[in-house]
Amino acid sequence: MEMGTVLRAMEEYTFTLLAMAVGFLVVVYLYEPYWKVRHVPGPVPVPLIGHLHLLARHGLDIFPALAKKHGPVFRDSRWSAMRNIIVSIYQPSHLAGLIPAMESCIQRAATNLNDGEEVSFSDLAVSLSTDVIGQAAFGTDFGLSSPKKTPGDDNNNDMKEAKASSEFINMHIHSTTSLKMDLSGSLSTIVGMFVPLLLKPLRQALLKVPWSADREITRVNGELRRMMDGIVAARMAARDPAASSPHKDFLSVLLAAREKDASTRELLSPDYLSSLTYEHLLAGSATTAFTLSSVLYLVSKHPEVESKLLGEIDAFGPRDRVLKETMRLFMASPLVAREASERVEVGGYVLPKATWVWMAPGVLAKDPNHFPEPELFRPERFDPAGDEQKKRHPYAFIPFGLGPRVCIGQKFSNQEVKLAVIHLYQRYVFRHSPSMESPLEFQFGIVVNFKHGVKLQVIKRHKND
Ligand code: HEM
Repeated sequence: MEMGTVLRAMEEYTFTLLAMAVGFLVVVYLYEPYWKVRHVPGPVPVPLIGHLHLLARHGLDIFPALAKKHGPVFRDSRWSAMRNIIVSIYQPSHLAGLIPAMESCIQRAATNLNDGEEVSFSDLAVSLSTDVIGQAAFGTDFGLSSPKKTPGDDNNNDMKEAKASSEFINMHIHSTTSLKMDLSGSLSTIVGMFVPLLLKPLRQALLKVPWSADREITRVNGELRRMMDGIVAARMAARDPAASSPHKDFLSVLLAAREKDASTRELLSPDYLSSLTYEHLLAGSATTAFTLSSVLYLVSKHPEVESKLLGEIDAFGPRDRVLKETMRLFMASPLVAREASERVEVGGYVLPKATWVWMAPGVLAKDPNHFPEPELFRPERFDPAGDEQKKRHPYAFIPFGLGPRVCIGQKFSNQEVKLAVIHLYQRYVFRHSPSMESPLEFQFGIVVNFKHGVKLQVIKRHKND
């Protein structure tokens, strides 16, 4: 073949060759994350979408199936300083001092319950747990679980307050549920899962589109952040370093630490304090609310568990079993993520720096090797004297995570849920209301939530019930 013919043929196919080269580079780019961990067993990723189709089709139910097929491991200066500062307020000695504040929030929330009425308990639980965090962590009374004002109440200020608190709750719920782990989240998040490079520019573009989920999420998060900034600024301005603080809460401990030396002041900048406060509000309220609602949902469905629980409450206070079994079946954070900050070996597999690792405590909690008949609600499996509990691996049940980043609010949350259970069941029992759906549907966000809420009928207890 002549040189001229070859060049002409090449010219003709230039576009095709270029397109093929670009296509190849795109595939290499998209596959790079999977290529780096190719030795780790797991499902084969589909071009462009990786494993997203599995998550979209099965939700979190996909994880037990993957664990079964591929084994237990399949394809994570400032934080530690901050953690050391606040850890003291989550010690049992300090938590005991929070009991009166928790109880007064619970009592106030309980005034919303009336014999024979239906209540959307999951909504009440969000208000309650947010109020408890407000009081215990920020020294602020949000007043969200105060009895609802009705249009008949002619006091203008009360109505304004009621409107403001319901807006706050709606924003708060929106912000804990908007980061979804399926295909119903914001467009930029979905596209970002396919092509991470596009996440930021697309989000910027969508912020300009009215009614887009991206715009709404950013607006609501901005509003909540501004409220938190306001609380932090007010507490900073009101602080008198010479006076000893009447009570110790999350914010007061951080503010006192700032006064110690210049480096801590620099570390705990006002911006960082606001982020921590916001994180605390989100981490501590939705999880506890979901767990408390789950206890009531499950106990209402199991009269034999209910009667044992009532016996314990009337005699010596509830044991941990009902709470643990509830968290095992309905885990608020069934997945925990880590990004490897350096090359690390996990379970015999070397993972490069920046690899995301997902752990699935929710899968462990349904493993029949540790929990026989895992779908049954059977609190007695947590009886410390029972064989099942004695034989079980100590890390088979880790709803609060494990290791240095384990949930800091674990004891706080257990105390709150237990106090609420005691208080509620001393006066009432609950049944599923006719509008409660069956089977139950969940929504998977940063925290699991009930898709349509927990709707219960309130029944006043009579003496000797
Ligand atoms: C039922 C209630 C709760 C559950 C199931 C829960 C669960 C978790 C889990 C699984 C983690 C991640 C642990 C890890 O990465 O290994 C976590 C972290 C965290 N939780 Fe909780 N949590 C609950 C209540 C609370 C409460 C009441 C607070 C605050 C008062 C709180 C504050 C935090 C914070 C600040 C972190 C981050 C800790 C760090 O990175 O150092 N949580 N929680």
